[in-house]
Amino acid sequence: MKQLEIKTLVKVYRYDELSAEHKMLIDKAKESIRLSYSPYSGFAVGAAVLLNNGEVFCGANQENAAYPSGLCAERTVMFYANANRPDVPVKALACACYTNGHFTNRPGSPCGNCRQVLLETEHRFKQDMEILLYGEDEVYVFPSAKSLLPHCFVDDDLRG
Ligand code: THU
Repeated sequence: MKQLEIKTLVKVYRYDELSAEHKMLIDKAKESIRLSYSPYSGFAVGAAVLLNNGEVFCGANQENAAYPSGLCAERTVMFYANANRPDVPVKALACACYTNGHFTNRPGSPCGNCRQVLLETEHRFKQDMEILLYGEDEVYVFPSAKSLLPHCFVDDDLRG
């Protein structure tokens, strides 16, 4: 028997310590809260992606009376970016969560399904995508989608 240790690196910043580009993307994610349709959970999530060509796309969670039919903010914006710019790699994604009248103090974390979708985009373009998770107290910066989903399943695994 041997053991494999899976490690993930995350940098923790205060907002004012971030680069101008990171602040811009987080600001866009925070503004995107207004795009949220979340009457059932009351939990609004805004997301923004920065493409290699400098474009920024925004999105938010979209809920449904048939609960599982709704979609998280991260997948909403990532599918939108990939569908409209299928040849442009995604450099970074930011998201922010808002509930009970304020942004969450701790950074929200993308769900498992979203992590898998972010990973697919990263793998498809063969370029790491930074993931910025906003919280009022601190901001987490992951260097890649893979660092959020280590030991993951990608197309290479389909070939056995
Ligand atoms: N949600 C997101 O948009 N992103 C996540 O990563 C986690 C959860 C949304 C889904 C649902 O509309 C609400 O937050 C409560 O779960």
